[in-house]
Amino acid sequence: MDDDAFDRLMAVADPPLVVVTTAAEGVRAGCLVGFHSQSSIGPERYCVWLSKANHTYRVGLRATHFAMHFLPDDRLDLAERFGTVSGEDKDKFVGIEVVSGDHGVPLIVGCPHRLLLECITVLDTRGDHVCLDMRVLRADHTGEFAPLRVSQAGSLEPGHASEERTIRP
Ligand SMILES: Cc1cc2nc3c(=O)[nH]c(=O)nc-3n(C[C@H](O)[C@H](O)[C@H](O)COP(=O)(O)O)c2cc1C
Repeated sequence: MDDDAFDRLMAVADPPLVVVTTAAEGVRAGCLVGFHSQSSIGPERYCVWLSKANHTYRVGLRATHFAMHFLPDDRLDLAERFGTVSGEDKDKFVGIEVVSGDHGVPLIVGCPHRLLLECITVLDTRGDHVCLDMRVLRADHTGEFAPLRVSQAGSLEPGHASEERTIRP
């Protein structure tokens, strides 16, 4: 396969960036995510792919509920906060306004365009990310917003490289 063509095509698709948060056993976690998609209309379902290298993945394996926050295009600072350091090294929630939502999920107050999700399946297809297939319990969206996209975050270096935990068949 022409890897360069794949990368270029994905760059043109330019998905919105989101921050996925969760909590389990008293530990909060969250990371920047570009791999996500609606996966069913009725019932409403949403998939998020988490890197096996991430602290959020490890906490998420013990969690049942997640929040997915769409980032507005003027919040590159939040993309940097959640996408360039690991929760293993730093509590990313310190210094921003966060409330505990339903099921104890951390909600970022500055990002009101969000989904509350219940994980129903974790699918490991032996890539470097796993798929969380989730039921949409609630959607919050009032007013207009323009999403921050992957193309606007080119300067950010991920806190964990996805190759760190790649399992190859
Ligand atoms: C533009 C961009 C997109 C990213 N997309 C994803 C993604 O789809 N899934 C994922 O698990 N990590 C993704 N990451 C990487 C994590 O957000 C990053 O490694 C983070 O620091 C992990 O934090 P944690 O170890 O606290 O979970 C992305 C990072 C950047 C900069």
